[in-house]
Amino acid sequence: MTAADLARPEGGQPLLRICNVTKKFQDYVALDDVSLSVSKGEVVCLIGGSGSGKTTLLRCINQLHDINDGTIWLEDELVGYRQDGLKLYPLTEKETIRQRLKSGMVFQRFNLFPHMTALQNITEGPVQVLKTPRQVAEATAMKLLERVGLATKASSYPSQLSGGQQQRVAIARALAMNPKIMLFDEPTSALDPELVGEVLAVMRELAHSGMTMVVVTHELGFAREVADRVVFMDRGVIVEEGPASEVLVSPREARTQAFISAVIG
Ligand SMILES: Nc1ncnc2c1ncn2[C@@H]1O[C@H](COP(=O)(O)OP(=O)(O)OP(=O)(O)O)[C@@H](O)[C@H]1O
Ligand SMILES: [Mg+2]
Repeated sequence: MTAADLARPEGGQPLLRICNVTKKFQDYVALDDVSLSVSKGEVVCLIGGSGSGKTTLLRCINQLHDINDGTIWLEDELVGYRQDGLKLYPLTEKETIRQRLKSGMVFQRFNLFPHMTALQNITEGPVQVLKTPRQVAEATAMKLLERVGLATKASSYPSQLSGGQQQRVAIARALAMNPKIMLFDEPTSALDPELVGEVLAVMRELAHSGMTMVVVTHELGFAREVADRVVFMDRGVIVEEGPASEVLVSPREARTQAFISAVIG
């Protein structure tokens, strides 16, 4: 890493800046010199075939993976490290937890706590981690449940909710931590087709409310409508990126064209 790599982003810089990131699993290069910036309020959809590195990229942003090379900045902080002049110190576990709170992650499988109601799933993080008074956390959780259309399901357990409802609770749970950016990893791909729309509707509202979002998705219609930018990945590299109207409608690269044709069928 050079001094230039460690130059703090200036004001007005992107909220998220991924710079020349390489991630290997043993000898396998899952991300190869990937750079991507996301501005505040921007919605970026990440598309690409299986194994292209989409999940790995989200996990690196959220520090669920260490990176082998490059830097990631979230706001004006270097992800995973504390910087002192030109020296870098890995974050302590406590610092990592604090930094991870800046990004909310929603997974393909909803990962709700099965023994907790929808409301408890949403209040658990604020109460335990942020030390929000329970009453305040519950009031916020009720507002979030309303926002995702589930005000009547506050006391339901995950097993009593449909997949689409569970995913909407998972989104509300992530929002309850007040993240700066939301990362979605194929949030609708485990759902029955008739339940996809209700989750996309919640994500659309979130996008319109100004939330900064990186969304891994195969829902190209959603990407076309909501994304400010679409990024196509293949074999660990970003092949092409640009406005949805360009990348999805008239892609420059043959690999992007082939992928889009295969998804559209
Ligand atoms: N923990 C791991 N250990 C070893 N290899 C891994 C690990 N996680 C991912 N990989 C490999 O890295 C590559 C990228 O995986 P990744 O999960 O990021 O792909 P993806 O684009 O999300 O694919 P999909 O659309 O199937 O979810 C794959 O070849 C995968 O096998
Ligand atoms: Mg994946």
